[in-house]
This record gives sequence, structure tokens and C-alpha cells, in this order.
Amino acid sequence: MDIRVLRSSDIPHVQTANITNLPENYFCKYYLYHALSWPQLSYVAVDVSRPPKTPYDPPRIVGYVLAKMEEEPADGVPHGHITSLSVMRTHRRLGLAEKLMRQSQRAMVETFGARYVSLHVRVSNVAALRLYRDTLGFEVEKVESKYYADGEDAYSMKMDLAFLREKAPESDDDGEAQDEGDEVGSAGKQGDGESEKKKEKMMKVKVGRSLGVGDLVEKNESTTKAS
Ligand code: ACO
Repeated sequence: MDIRVLRSSDIPHVQTANITNLPENYFCKYYLYHALSWPQLSYVAVDVSRPPKTPYDPPRIVGYVLAKMEEEPADGVPHGHITSLSVMRTHRRLGLAEKLMRQSQRAMVETFGARYVSLHVRVSNVAALRLYRDTLGFEVEKVESKYYADGEDAYSMKMDLAFLREKAPESDDDGEAQDEGDEVGSAGKQGDGESEKKKEKMMKVKVGRSLGVGDLVEKNESTTKAS
């Protein structure tokens, strides 16, 4: 089994898995919005046990996590959000969901300096609740009444990511430029006036924020509230 970052070309297969496993479904462009805005945060589990027969065979995607950063956090605290997670029935209880979640959480901290991660889950979803609360360590923050289109309530859950921040290399959420090392081929040029000037011009670029793609959000085909 291969767990790797979601690619744009995976989207139709992830969409199929989502439709198969969950009633909360999304337009193709909403997946693309995640993949383009926060390319580090969404992952797929690919079954590589049977290699493709032709180069045109699609990857066998058996699980995915679709995740993002909250763009305008109400509490002002940078945090990630799990939009959707599912694993095909044939591949459940192998630890795939746990791995997908942990990969995404680590990337939220390392890439975007996330302090915590949030999600919504149906109150009746015993399997997912066990995974989130008992295996991963999420806590129920509140119950959101009639959150889903069919009237079911959701648990709004949160997990503190401080334990990952301690392990992570210094994150860039202070906005300060970091030393990215010497440019290739600069060996022996130490102190060279030209390269010093170039270094001064280097600036840190934020990824995944203010990209002007907010209009693409089409939260859910079946409900207006669920995400
Ligand atoms: N019953 C009880 N506990 C379970 C179950 C289950 N059916 N499935 C997982 N768990 C718990 C167990 O504690 C398990 O550890 P264990 O196997 O050592 O006992 C732990 O979670 C880790 O399980 P994984 O193998 O990592 O989970 P899996 O890959 O099977 O995926 C998932 C779990 C995603 C909930 C899967 O059952 C699924 O796809 N369900 C349908 C879609 C779904 O409900 N998605 C979540 C919606 S909420 C959202 O998307 C934000």
C-alpha cells in the first residue's frame, strides 16, 4: 500500500470513493480547490499489490483524506480542517485511515503552523468516532444540531497539535524569511558581492492563502451546511 499526496489526476477516483462511502459529496472543483490551495494536506492510499497492466490504467485508490486550512478562523488561531475521509470497505481495519490522518496532521503543522485540527462527524458514526476519539485523540467540542442535510446532528471535534509542533522544524508562521541555504553552484563564492545582493532579495512566499480561489467553494451537493 502506498500513501502519497493527492494529485489532480486522482480527483475523479477520489470522487468515486467519496460517493461510494459517504453521503456528503462535492463538486470536482472543490477537490481541485483543496489540491491547488493546500497541496501538502490531502493524501490518498493506493493499492499497489496488482501493478497496472497498461500505462493508461488508473491508480487503485482505496482511501483518501481531503484536508485544508481554515481560511478565516473565527478564533484567529491557524488550524486545519478535515473535509472528508474514507476508506473502501475492502480495505478497512488495516490502519489506513489512521495513517492518512496522521500524515495530513503533520503537514498542517510543518507547512502551515496549524495549532489544532477540526472536523465534523455524524453522531451515529461509531467507526469514525472510535478512530477520531480513541485512536487519534480528538475531543468533542460541541454538538451541532441538524448539521447534515438529512437532519442528523454532528459532533464538532478538535485535536490539539502541540505535540507535533514540538517535533516539527521551525514553522514559518511568524512570516520571517528563513535561510534556505546557498544557491546551487555557489561553492567557493562566499563573500561574493553579487550573490550577497541576490540573497538579500530573497523573500518568503506564503502558499495556499490569499490565492483568490474562494469563489470556487461549492461546499456540498447534498447539503448547504456540511463540510
Ligand atoms: N468499529 C469500531 N472501531 C473502528 C472501526 C469500526 N468499524 N473502524 C475503525 N475503528 C477504530 C478502531 O479503534 C481502529 O483501530 P483497531 O483496528 O486497531 O481496533 C482505529 O479506528 C483505526 O482504524 P483504521 O483501520 O485506521 O480505519 P479504517 O481504515 O478502517 O477507516 C473509516 C475508518 C474511515 C471510518 C472507515 O470505516 C470509513 O471509510 N467509513 C465510511 C466513511 C466515513 O464514515 N468517513 C468518516 C466521515 S467524517 C469525515 O469525513 C470528517
